[in-house]
Amino acid sequence: MISTEHRTGLHAYRGAIFHCLKQATEETDHKAVEYFEDGLLLVNDGRVVQCGPFVQLRKALPQDLPIKDYSGKLIMPGLIDCHSHYPQTDVIASHGKQLLDWLETYTYPAEEKFADIAHAEHAAAFFLDELLRNGTTTALVMPTIHPVSVDAIFSAAQKRNMRLLSGKVMMDRNGPKNLLDTPQSAYRESKQLIEKWHRQGRLDYAITPRFAPTSTDQQLKIAGQLAQEHPDTYVHSHVAENQQEVDWVAKLFPWSRSYLDVYDHFGLLRERAIYAHGIYLDDKDMNRLQETGAALAFCPSSNNFLGSGLFDLKHAHEKGVKAGLATDVGGGTSFSLLQTLSDAYKVQQHLGHSLSSVQGFYLATLGGAKALCLEDKLGNFETDQEADFIVMDLAATPLIERRLAQANSIQEKLFAMMMLGDDRAISATYILGELAYTKPALSEV
Ligand code: GUN
Ligand code: ZN
Repeated sequence: MISTEHRTGLHAYRGAIFHCLKQATEETDHKAVEYFEDGLLLVNDGRVVQCGPFVQLRKALPQDLPIKDYSGKLIMPGLIDCHSHYPQTDVIASHGKQLLDWLETYTYPAEEKFADIAHAEHAAAFFLDELLRNGTTTALVMPTIHPVSVDAIFSAAQKRNMRLLSGKVMMDRNGPKNLLDTPQSAYRESKQLIEKWHRQGRLDYAITPRFAPTSTDQQLKIAGQLAQEHPDTYVHSHVAENQQEVDWVAKLFPWSRSYLDVYDHFGLLRERAIYAHGIYLDDKDMNRLQETGAALAFCPSSNNFLGSGLFDLKHAHEKGVKAGLATDVGGGTSFSLLQTLSDAYKVQQHLGHSLSSVQGFYLATLGGAKALCLEDKLGNFETDQEADFIVMDLAATPLIERRLAQANSIQEKLFAMMMLGDDRAISATYILGELAYTKPALSEV
């Protein structure tokens, strides 16, 4: 029987339940996942108490405890987006450019508007509601150079009780005048924001040089100094996304061995450092990522949309480099990590690898948590984990319903969901055991 001390905030959810216990080496690695066709998830005060077969666990439940019944649906941990840009919501799906032109034509003008707190607050609220609607419960989010853009996204996350990581963008060259700071102002403002937001509840601060081309050596040095002064903060940037960008970095930092080496030189590779893309990295770079514990964010939708290239996930895993999944909105064209998984699968197919559904959902949950060094809090339903979870509708569209009727295993069902699913497949999103989003019934739409 559940002890009385557990009773106050106790909630029970019934449905099919899937979660990852560790990284699967192959699809048939049954020890890597747990699946209960008729399962029960027990949550107390926002944390997982237990998860297992319904028939077994129900016996220990207080008789009068209501059970939220999601039978026919699939409960799984909340999805984790390892890299996204909330100020780019308004330029998602902008036509015709690759990275460097895309930044100048669409992205920078959109980001200039975030000097205005009201604009930033409005965009932050929309962005986080869109994450919840898509089943994403945690994200590493890049704002703009403006401190108010950081305040806006952290305040909005705090309001929703979401675990979120962010930090002021640092850029002091090669951008429009209104988007440039200086090494000194970037240091001062980042420091103030760290004091204000880092480790406030579920929020973590990320020191955020945008990418090497928009920071001088002096600014990268100061970013490294900040990272040293605040060892438990995150570091967040982009690396080796596009060939033209890589060539530019070689010209801007002629002393460097490689693009990644620029960050290494300034002390920006370490645990809790996350770099988006990492398509054009050599073996030495991969070894440095592995040695330092820095992680990559795989952004397949963005890489396809901007024509950047193909990220070799298998190689990253073979090298022992941590990798999570990321939408990279607005280079990425969807807020949905299910759609992003579909892109991930197709990118790996081009490289001759076939990503299994278990590997895919690992990437979007526990793998993302590991990349963000949050696996002791998030990513699965082990006891005491934070109870951020989603309920997937396995009949979200007529096509999904029809296809899943032919599926014989949970692996097959998950694979169809990762190919065909999107925001319509998210029935409900829970944050710390509280309902944060429910899909409106068709009659309400
Ligand atoms: N590199 C530097 N800035 C950006 C950005 O905003 N989006 C992407 N995809 N790459 C970048
Ligand atoms: Zn990005």
